[in-house]
Amino acid sequence: MHEQTPDTPPAPPAPEAPALFGWEFATDPYPAYAWLREHSPVHRATLPSGVEAWLVTRYADARQALADQRLSKNPAHHAEPAHAKGKTGIPGERKAELMTHLLNIDPPDHTRLRRLVSKAFTPRRVAEFTPRVQELTDHLIDRIVEKAGAGEKGEADLIHEFAFPLPIYAICEMLGVPREDQDDFRDWAGMMIRHGGGPRGGVARSVKRMRTYLGELIHRKRDDLGNDLISDLIRASDHGDHLTEAEATAMAFILLFAGFETTVNLIGNGLHSLFMNPGQRTLLQDSLAAGETGLLETGIEELLRYDGPVELATWRFATRPLTLGGQDIAAGDPVLVVLAAADRDPARFADPDALDLSRSDNQHLGYGHGIHYCLGAPLARLEGQTALATLLKRLPDLELAVPPTDLRWRGGLIMRGLRTLPVRFTVP
Ligand code: HEM
Repeated sequence: MHEQTPDTPPAPPAPEAPALFGWEFATDPYPAYAWLREHSPVHRATLPSGVEAWLVTRYADARQALADQRLSKNPAHHAEPAHAKGKTGIPGERKAELMTHLLNIDPPDHTRLRRLVSKAFTPRRVAEFTPRVQELTDHLIDRIVEKAGAGEKGEADLIHEFAFPLPIYAICEMLGVPREDQDDFRDWAGMMIRHGGGPRGGVARSVKRMRTYLGELIHRKRDDLGNDLISDLIRASDHGDHLTEAEATAMAFILLFAGFETTVNLIGNGLHSLFMNPGQRTLLQDSLAAGETGLLETGIEELLRYDGPVELATWRFATRPLTLGGQDIAAGDPVLVVLAAADRDPARFADPDALDLSRSDNQHLGYGHGIHYCLGAPLARLEGQTALATLLKRLPDLELAVPPTDLRWRGGLIMRGLRTLPVRFTVP
């Protein structure tokens, strides 16, 4: 024990960590993240599931952690006692079959699968898809407008009527899911997004139906290859190596799974940020009206940095003891990299809490970093840019139909997104 002498000022009381994962946090987690970055940058937290994990909130530490090979994606490295496994909500702990997907594996398995899928899911395939994304976007806006009637004030929920269906139809078409089956996917995906990612009840059934359907589709397409992504996954070969049917199924599933809720929230959060920053929105709208695309391109990246869909990167587990940001981490400990906190770090970004659509020094972590860097980033950019530009051009006076404080956020662990986005507009 230390005696305090009259000359030493009393130590300031240890600042108290803010409440994490409650309702207020779900609405606006950024003040809590600012506190963590400053006072406890690698912070031990108890998650709502009861699992203890390290939250990494500074940009430099986050970037290092995302690329650190000592942090494994394989949940088998999680040190939780065996009896607790499967109850944590950590993906892949229960289902051995999910273990074959990219986000749950390390090199060399990851290197092999990623190389094969990269041969099928190419930037060129995405670029060729541009006119179709535009058609799908226009079709959804047509439906919203038709519902309102000519010359009237229209109302819509842009999450359910726009941000949600666009990515699900887009990825279905790209994969080669026949049109008549795409509404099933919309329903299964709706179940998954409404009830969170956990493999429970209706969600588990939806996941199972989707996987079964994709497995059968891949089996059928084997003898009837077409010009779609699933056919390319079957064709893909690397020095004589191919994806097995089970691997192709897992791959198609992860493309759907990783690519739809993220894109829903890119569109939803992006629109929300524009509504809350009218000056920036006007700049974007003026530049689109002038036929320019530069601000749209930097703007989508800035919307990802400012309030991106992936709040925390997916799980990582320490394979051996390591030190991160001065904090010792034991082997077996889970580590969650908080992308949303890192992307507002004043040590990396000038005026980080301001939305600046023209920001050019913007190496944000919204798509991750390192070997697991988002495979679908070109498709997400295409969908995000097309969705926002078309909506703002066709419905220029679009506005929130409720006070911003009435909006509700989903409050999931990995994703950040709105439940609904009610808007009003004049029908063109
Ligand atoms: C990985 C974000 C859209 C497919 C990731 C990761 C992030 C991310 C942060 C890395 C996770 C980690 O390291 O733990 C996003 C965002 C999107 C988006 C913000 C939308 C705005 C998409 C789309 C697809 C996709 C449209 C596919 C159609 C994938 C896949 C991986 C991945 C397959 C795993 C890559 C690997 O492990 O090698 N994404 N994503 N994503 N993303 Fe995306």
